[in-house]
Amino acid sequence: MIHMFERAESFVSAEELEMQLPFVRAAHELIHSGRGAGSDFLGWLRLPQEYDRAELRRILETGKRIAETAEILVVIGIGGSYLGARAALSMLRHSFAELLPRDRLPLQVVFAGHQMSGTYLTDLLEVLDGREVAVNVISKSGTTTEPALAFRVLEAYMQKRYGRAEAAKRIVVTTDRSRGALRDLANAVGYETFVVPDDVGGRFSVLTPVGLFPLAAAGIDVEAMLSGAQVAQDDTARVDLDENHAYAYAALRHALRQKGKLVELLVSYEPGLHYVGEWWKQLFGESEGKDHKGIWPASADFSTDLHSLGQYIQEGRRFIFETALRVRTPRRSLVIEALPGDADGLNYLAGKTMQDVNDTALQATMLAHVRGGVPNIGLELANMGPETLGYLFYFFEKACAVSAYLQGVNPFDQPGVEAYKTNMFALLGKPGYEDLRSVLAKGR
Ligand code: PA5
Repeated sequence: MIHMFERAESFVSAEELEMQLPFVRAAHELIHSGRGAGSDFLGWLRLPQEYDRAELRRILETGKRIAETAEILVVIGIGGSYLGARAALSMLRHSFAELLPRDRLPLQVVFAGHQMSGTYLTDLLEVLDGREVAVNVISKSGTTTEPALAFRVLEAYMQKRYGRAEAAKRIVVTTDRSRGALRDLANAVGYETFVVPDDVGGRFSVLTPVGLFPLAAAGIDVEAMLSGAQVAQDDTARVDLDENHAYAYAALRHALRQKGKLVELLVSYEPGLHYVGEWWKQLFGESEGKDHKGIWPASADFSTDLHSLGQYIQEGRRFIFETALRVRTPRRSLVIEALPGDADGLNYLAGKTMQDVNDTALQATMLAHVRGGVPNIGLELANMGPETLGYLFYFFEKACAVSAYLQGVNPFDQPGVEAYKTNMFALLGKPGYEDLRSVLAKGR
């Protein structure tokens, strides 16, 4: 479903890539033996093939119930608790899903709790009025400020609008099995809940109820996503850089980093993949960026961003490499027709599809960037369907775990994310943070 069609050969020779093999094998052993740092968080590794079928059935049933009750589902979460679902919706759904005619209109999904803007929340409440609403609040820790604040507002809105009993039927909580304020609240009110497994970290959780429940409610074929991930689980189980392209990708990015390429730009040529880039940035950034190590993950939409970032990529500082996502068969096809008179001079393209032109843009850009000193890795996705996306999620998760171990960091923790949170608690006067508050007040 995904294969590497470009291996940055002019920057990393076959011999250099082969030299990465023992290190990739060591990283693979750390993951599969469970002896590496952070091994308490390896639940994602076997999840697709061992998925709890009873839970999947409940996800599908509850999703159906919510879709029948609501026109809009507000998904509250931040980081790994929302980016996977957002990526899937943008890749798998109609580009203008919310503008489709009524008889084709799917459940609308909007996101909240991924920032702290009062403008955003107030605007959101305004558009909810007059439409049937449901809420899925997702927080593994159950204590993250952004989603907690958004849920406080949305829960009050739901109770005021529907009454406590009906609101409770329209709110679904995804959180830890036993810990956290959100778990306590869900138990106290009696909300339906799904569990984020203890051994799966936020950014590796898209194939748990974190991603699967809102997607099922939105009508996405989550079983197909899981099937794709199951294939990826098999395809990435062996240490073989020719066959296992997730490992070849990890090995290549490691070799490029050793050559001073410290920024990876994930580019796609389909706008539907924009949020795959956002999900991927969190996955790699939070997994690798520690101990003053890591490749800076950036993303761009081509050809759009060739008209803003293209100049820098072609001729700016040489610390970037690109990973291009190509889609072999996009969701739709559009043939370019001949125009009588050829007023716009585009008849030379008549008979081609937009995909032919888009693909030529990819080839042309790769040639130009490689010539300009920017190594390119190319990953081809078979299509923009749920199986391929499930495969892609797992492919990147596995590549990311290997990449982090190649750099000697724990892929599964995120100690740096806490720094801003504790400062914020201290500055806001949260009880228990008085000492830090006085340290910060002194400017230290
Ligand atoms: O990958 C991670 O663990 C984090 O990015 C979390 O997903 C994010 O901080 C949200 O955390 P929580 O689900 O606990 O609210």
